[in-house]
Amino acid sequence: MRRGRHVLVLLVTCAVACAGSTPPSFLTDRNGGPTTARALRGRPFHQAARNLDNAGLARFARGAEVFDDPTGCLSCHVDGTERSSRTDLAPGHIVRIGLDDGNGGLAADPNFGLQIDPDRVAVSWRTVEGAFPDGQAYTLRRPVLTVDSELARRLDPDVVISVRIPPPLLGLGLLEAVHLPRGAARFGWKAEEPSVASQTRRALIADLDIDPSSLDPGDLADLIYYTRTIAVPVARGTDTEPVRRGASVFESFGCASCHSPTLVADASEIAALDNATFHPFTDLRTHDLGDGLAETHLDGTPSANATARRWRTPPLWGLGRRTEVQGTAGFLHDGRARTIEEAILWHGGEASSARRRYLHASRSTRQDLLAFLGSL
Ligand code: HEC
Ligand code: HEC
Repeated sequence: MRRGRHVLVLLVTCAVACAGSTPPSFLTDRNGGPTTARALRGRPFHQAARNLDNAGLARFARGAEVFDDPTGCLSCHVDGTERSSRTDLAPGHIVRIGLDDGNGGLAADPNFGLQIDPDRVAVSWRTVEGAFPDGQAYTLRRPVLTVDSELARRLDPDVVISVRIPPPLLGLGLLEAVHLPRGAARFGWKAEEPSVASQTRRALIADLDIDPSSLDPGDLADLIYYTRTIAVPVARGTDTEPVRRGASVFESFGCASCHSPTLVADASEIAALDNATFHPFTDLRTHDLGDGLAETHLDGTPSANATARRWRTPPLWGLGRRTEVQGTAGFLHDGRARTIEEAILWHGGEASSARRRYLHASRSTRQDLLAFLGSL
């Protein structure tokens, strides 16, 4: 009897003390699974998956040559060697438009398609002041888009518009190998493209005005291979206390319900990606994040169209290295967030309760969460 109670006390003590010392697998494993790059010298977001064989590495290098054309993909998907001079947006932004299709979706404008020339849309910023319940103030900024008047006259008055910055291209082959319901797309800020190949074709046509069939088919295939096999950078400081605490805050605040820590790849035609377990922090699905992030009409009012309000949960791997790679810090689909904290404060809609928990947390809990996110 006595002895039994003793054991029970020990067990309870351990449940309390040991909980903090058993880190979740997404802290102890490498985020990109076997593809994770360790040492990152030079170009952090353009390294080959670590477990490619020699033939794979050679193919990656050939694809990189196609990608690295300074007037091509690299002109927008920069890698720390380029600097944007355009605006204080992240480099390489595009401007998307759409029209309500009557079913909650967005259709192409019959005259202008899905994209308009970013040089005809001025981006300025309006500041939004706020404060944490503990009194600490914060300042957010929202983009104000001004379409040049000649184009504005010709656009449908109901058009919705958004700026989109280029997402980092990390671990895309892994994300592509995750099983999703038939027909579900996964790439782009709204999960509009089903595969790296389809997104690459779209980029050639819409972003570069190049007919994909004019490219050498071998070059195109190497480019797609390259884009699929870019390594995920290794997280840093995952054995430090603030990062560990931050990881459990991430789970307890409900961030992980959308930013799913762990996914598993199906069989992939690329052996290095086959059946890998990895930690991208996304569910690859779209969510309504509220008015604040919704695409807007030309006068800046948020659209009520269901699709205009939805965004794909972006992967969070590489988050802590984004500023050094992009040159400017820009988070969220339009780069409005200058810090990770600003990105959290813009969450609304389905993510309102996660935002509220962050807002009401103590300063040190917030710092722990930011330490975890910055480690990625
Ligand atoms: C004009 C700038 C620009 C150029 C040039 C460009 N991209 Fe992009 N890319 C973007 C933007 C912006 C997005 C986000 C689009 C969206 O969500 O609407 C994107 C998205 C992507 C994605 C999806 C990533 C993800 O996480 O979902 C891939 C893959 C991609 N681009 C590959 C390429 C390749 C390959 C090339 C060269 C053939 C290229 N891009 C050229 C700006 C550009
Ligand atoms: C309901 C789903 C959902 C929840 C819950 C959620 N997020 Fe997000 N998160 C998203 C979506 C969707 C976006 C993209 C929004 C956009 O780009 O406009 C996003 C964007 C982000 C970004 C910016 C990433 C980038 O690449 O720019 C960060 C950082 C982030 N979330 C962190 C968090 C944290 C931390 C929590 C918990 C406090 C959280 N999120 C809770 C869905 C969610």
